[in-house]
Amino acid sequence: GKDGYRHYMEKELHEHPLVIGQTLQRMVDPATRKVVLPELPFSLADVPRAVITACGSAFYAGMIGRYWLEEIARLPVDIDVASELRYRNPPLDRHSLGLLISQSGETADTLAALRALRQTAVHILSVLNVEHSSMARESDAVLGTVAGPEISVASTKAFTAQLTVLACLSIATARARGHLDPLREEELVSALLDLPTRAADALAQHDAVRAMARVVAEARDVLYLGRGSLFPVAMEGALKLKEISYIHAEAYAAGEMKHGPISLIDSSVPIVASAPHTPLFDKTLSNLQEAKARGGRLLVFTDTKGAERVSAIAEQMVVLPHVHDFVTPILQVIPVQMLAYEVAVLKGTDVDQPRNLAKSVTVE
Ligand code: F6R
Repeated sequence: GKDGYRHYMEKELHEHPLVIGQTLQRMVDPATRKVVLPELPFSLADVPRAVITACGSAFYAGMIGRYWLEEIARLPVDIDVASELRYRNPPLDRHSLGLLISQSGETADTLAALRALRQTAVHILSVLNVEHSSMARESDAVLGTVAGPEISVASTKAFTAQLTVLACLSIATARARGHLDPLREEELVSALLDLPTRAADALAQHDAVRAMARVVAEARDVLYLGRGSLFPVAMEGALKLKEISYIHAEAYAAGEMKHGPISLIDSSVPIVASAPHTPLFDKTLSNLQEAKARGGRLLVFTDTKGAERVSAIAEQMVVLPHVHDFVTPILQVIPVQMLAYEVAVLKGTDVDQPRNLAKSVTVE
């Protein structure tokens, strides 16, 4: 049942701390505080490049995974949505890694991409929540997300569980490739182990999120902005809003706004920005100032370190704890998903069963 929550989506949102913790328990040795992946049938040290593919929210998780694999492990990564990957026919040698991400393990587009990658004989590693699934059977190895069953059609907790696995994979890959000294690993693992507590703090921000939701629920169009690893967070926010509230939303990399969508900005198009205090904060803030100067209403997700400067320009903000840059997108996405949920509740839509959508999409 829903355990007293209004919808499965609300219940599943509240499981973020639990599923991040459970997923970490599988991948981090508590004694040594080191990432320990299950045995893989190939060596991460020998992989020259990776191609990530997935659909929808899982694709956005993959985009964040790319930042980590490139930044921390210095591994070249290509990424494409599964329904397009085959048409690019990317040149890959047989030591390359095909990295697939799926909650259900049954998504037809992702399964077809897996089979296409199989033809080029790359190693197939899948990040899956349903471990007895078609994709699990056809992969060389599976990294399980421990999110438990996700009933709401809109994905929530599976997303943070996917990110947790991808973060651990990035650490293990970095170590295998000789790009991670023990001190740095300790720093990154500590940031991950701190996340369940921080995620609970994020969930406690529901009043601030609901206040934002009242503004968004009145809008016809919403623009989501983020930079770096927070750009996929913006994309996830826009997708979730469209899916369950039927409000049109678009996500842009914050720096791209001035190359076009800035012409849309007026007081009727709220701007939802993800702007915690990372090294990219100043640049994002100046993009937000440009938007404000054109009459944009700013609704900003930030952190305790960014709050003072954000409060000078934002109409509303949600302030999360300041955490290590590495784990910031995992934490910041939680209230962004919650915003979509609260807007849908205000609109009175069928939150758990949005029109035209199915939990797993088994046609191409
Ligand atoms: C978003 C959503 C979809 C799925 C996508 C992939 O809320 O639910 O975009 O993320 O259909 O599904 P899986 O992960 O099962 O392959």
